[in-house]
Amino acid sequence: MNLERLFSKRTRTMRPSEIRELLKLTQQPDIISFAGGLPNPNAFPINELQDVVKKVLDKDGKLALQYGPTEGIRALRNTLANRCAKDGIDATSDNILITTGSQQGLDVLGRIFLDPGDTIIVELPTYLGAINAFRAYEINFEGIPLDKDGMQVDLLEEKIKELQKKGIVPKFIYVVPTFQNPAGVVMPESRRKKLVDIANDYDLIVIEDDPYGKLIYEGEAVKPIKSFDDEGRVIYLSTFSKILAPGFRLAWIVASQELIRKLSVGKQALDLCTNTFAQFIANEFIESGYLDLHIMRIIEMYRPKRDKMIEAIKKYFPPDTICHKPRGGMFAWATIPGNIDTEEMFLDAIKEKVAYIHGKAFYVNGGGANSMRLNFSYSSEELIEEGIRRLGRVIERKLKESK
Ligand SMILES: Cc1ncc(COP(=O)(O)O)c(C=O)c1O
Repeated sequence: MNLERLFSKRTRTMRPSEIRELLKLTQQPDIISFAGGLPNPNAFPINELQDVVKKVLDKDGKLALQYGPTEGIRALRNTLANRCAKDGIDATSDNILITTGSQQGLDVLGRIFLDPGDTIIVELPTYLGAINAFRAYEINFEGIPLDKDGMQVDLLEEKIKELQKKGIVPKFIYVVPTFQNPAGVVMPESRRKKLVDIANDYDLIVIEDDPYGKLIYEGEAVKPIKSFDDEGRVIYLSTFSKILAPGFRLAWIVASQELIRKLSVGKQALDLCTNTFAQFIANEFIESGYLDLHIMRIIEMYRPKRDKMIEAIKKYFPPDTICHKPRGGMFAWATIPGNIDTEEMFLDAIKEKVAYIHGKAFYVNGGGANSMRLNFSYSSEELIEEGIRRLGRVIERKLKESK
């Protein structure tokens, strides 16, 4: 049977993600994997969840096991709106949409905003899952390079003007401003304000994706871009994946009521509603005070892992490797010297039983060939040291070969 002729035009142009194929290799049990963005499973709050699940079933079992509203259950939306206030975001429960992971949030945003041929602006590098979600809508990407303070907003303004001259208005600007995935950098407050000013001046929308903002190992929190938005043009996403458990598939969007209504219609066709049981559990987990304690606990667990990774990179990678110590989040981003292509080097690394994600995967313009993203939350400190030592050996060999 010739299925090809039946597939939609969009499906016919879809190619299997090379990264997915590579990631399959990292799942062999003896591989030290720095590839995924996985929380440490030893931190999962299993005892607390046992308590919470029992409470939810005793108190609200009949509701928790039923379908719920597409927007999410009111109690959790209320709780999240109250937490927004702590971050300087002005929101009521009507400004919150619960989604099945932020990944679904990104897809729904694509659904409501993007037509084939549209243009959006992203960071260079940016989150791979966002590239994939938006690419499915057959759009064009424009990239703005990061520096140590995140997206270079002066270059952003130049890019917007350049596009304007060609008659192109970007549909939105997608940013991960806090402990960026993959680069780990934080956009300071002054740049955040400037970004909002630019969005106001050029009548644009900003999508602020913030899964890592609470995982701070040093220094102060920076207020979300959304907190500087007076015109309802910043759409904020966050998730329980990194602060509780990704298995919940639970996240939220904060936006104007008008947008929440549209997004909710977009989401309805995808899943009717996000897992109601998980929503009740997450709400009870927060209300019982467990979430804040849990975040404090994982910060203490991840900080020494981050330190170990940075220390090991200094010890085992070539001396002119560039790798800044991230102040939070889950990733170190290393740029190695010489003419090494980290995508080509990947199979050598797998032979040494160690894995990472190559830099090019995060670039919409083919950049990043000599960079790599290294996750430090998942592995033990011992395995971090060993894995980086092995990678150092692979790099050294590659450098010798390329001379
Ligand atoms: C920047 C960013 N956005 C979104 C997601 C997706 O998160 P979720 O598990 O909520 O779908 C991730 C996960 O790694 C991420 O790093």
